[in-house]
Amino acid sequence: AMVHRHKFVLKDTPYTRLCSSKNILTVNGQFPGPTLYVTEGDTLVVDVINQARENVTIHWHGVKQPRYPWSDGPEYITQCPIRPGTSFSQKIVLSDEIGTLWWHAHSDWSRATVHGALVVYPKKRNDHPFPKPDAEIPIILGEWWKSDIQAVVDEFIQSGDPNVSDAFLVNGQPGDLYPCSRPDTFKVTVDHGKRYLFRMINAVMNNIMFFKIANHNITVVGSDGAYTKPFTSDYIAISPGQTIDFLLDANQRPSHYYMASRVYIIAGTAGNTTTTAIIQYTGNYSAPPEPVLPILPDFNDTLASTSFTRRLRSLASKDHPVDVPKNVNKILFFTLSINTVGGSIGGRLRASINNITFVPPRIAILQAYYRRIRGVYGDDFPSNPPFTFNYTQEIIPQDWLTPQNGTEVSVLEYNSTVELVFQGTNLVSGIDHPMHLHGYSFYVVGSGFGNFDRDRDPSNYNLVDPPLQNTIAVPVNGWTAIRFKANNPGVWLLHCHFERHVSWGMEMAFIVQNGKSPDAKMLPPPPDMPRC
Ligand code: C2O
Ligand code: CU
Repeated sequence: AMVHRHKFVLKDTPYTRLCSSKNILTVNGQFPGPTLYVTEGDTLVVDVINQARENVTIHWHGVKQPRYPWSDGPEYITQCPIRPGTSFSQKIVLSDEIGTLWWHAHSDWSRATVHGALVVYPKKRNDHPFPKPDAEIPIILGEWWKSDIQAVVDEFIQSGDPNVSDAFLVNGQPGDLYPCSRPDTFKVTVDHGKRYLFRMINAVMNNIMFFKIANHNITVVGSDGAYTKPFTSDYIAISPGQTIDFLLDANQRPSHYYMASRVYIIAGTAGNTTTTAIIQYTGNYSAPPEPVLPILPDFNDTLASTSFTRRLRSLASKDHPVDVPKNVNKILFFTLSINTVGGSIGGRLRASINNITFVPPRIAILQAYYRRIRGVYGDDFPSNPPFTFNYTQEIIPQDWLTPQNGTEVSVLEYNSTVELVFQGTNLVSGIDHPMHLHGYSFYVVGSGFGNFDRDRDPSNYNLVDPPLQNTIAVPVNGWTAIRFKANNPGVWLLHCHFERHVSWGMEMAFIVQNGKSPDAKMLPPPPDMPRC
């Protein structure tokens, strides 16, 4: 296994989109940030140097970091922020991840501009369980606000407004359907008869995205750093945080075609805008003046979103077996809610898990845990909601709306097998929640609409080829069940990957205890951990 060294210099850099310029926070001046390439089992050493004016941390989304949570990155969970003028050398150890992962800032909303791809090759470079591609194309879906990100956050905190961005982006470009952005269109050229591996990352802040390429089918082969059973589709639904690897055969009439992406949202709010990029065949041919535009699923097409997600399956082959826990030691049931404080609709919005709105501590939980500093967090995160009700009924009584504030963790014994059922609720408004767990991949064993039924639903779990994910969209007014083995000691964040919901408090952390043997214990921290 190799050690790769990189330098990430965080600094303000001027960028222009939609005919307006501003300074954005970048890594090495790049937006999106640099793509890193590694091989399964390699180690990355990244010197993060903060030359910007704000606090930053960097998270390695989907990298399990066995026994070494110190480099995981979430602010006030595993570390204190890297302050302006200081640096932190992060060691990132890859284990069994293969495919596409990514890295992003994990402090406030700075991940809006601070993110990039992390490509993990198998040990034998082209030894994929799918036909060999001729080339690879990373696709990062992102967002652009004309105003400063900090202003966006402040306004959002003040008003609780959804704060829709001014454009969605493909590889940093809005595409030519937005006003004033014709030159800002990502274009890729393909040769007729060749096969391309697209590595797609959803780095947008608050939306599940649909994506489609005109006139072409695609074959999905991976998600979240694991292979999937190949399946053919003419569109993709991808959650913030999630990655999808897919093959495209350039087998259509040589021409130019749009690939397009737009939001999936269930409410009729704004944001029904399309970002475009262009696939251009090489050679001499006559093509229509404008590329063909694909017809995307409707922006409120819940079925299109959930049915795509449910088609993801593990490979479950001899070389890539599934290891889903059959017997469960610990069952957790977490309700995911939007709440109001002030008792009525129109009060300030909050979000909660099991009715607890997470309040970040002043010292990182990992440091407090490791050094046994008291009073930073509590270890009483409830395994069940405080009371049961019809979570998905249409009208929910007002007095169920107010959550408790808390900085609570849930403690898991080393090697215990965990089943966690997420239950979406219709408090204030039902919405999908893309839930992401740090330090682990988990098997998604079941999902459905309505209330989870403990007596009936587990008998329909898929324990044969459930997909291995690190982010899963819990369907609107529905539930999703995941299983994992708590074999990675440390402090690991669980949160919705909608930034709005995180700001409102939809997060919590697990402490996974050390095991008995020396190789089942957390490793010590590096000497340059940022101080609080
Ligand atoms: Cu992609 Cu906690 O984040
Ligand atoms: Cu959410």
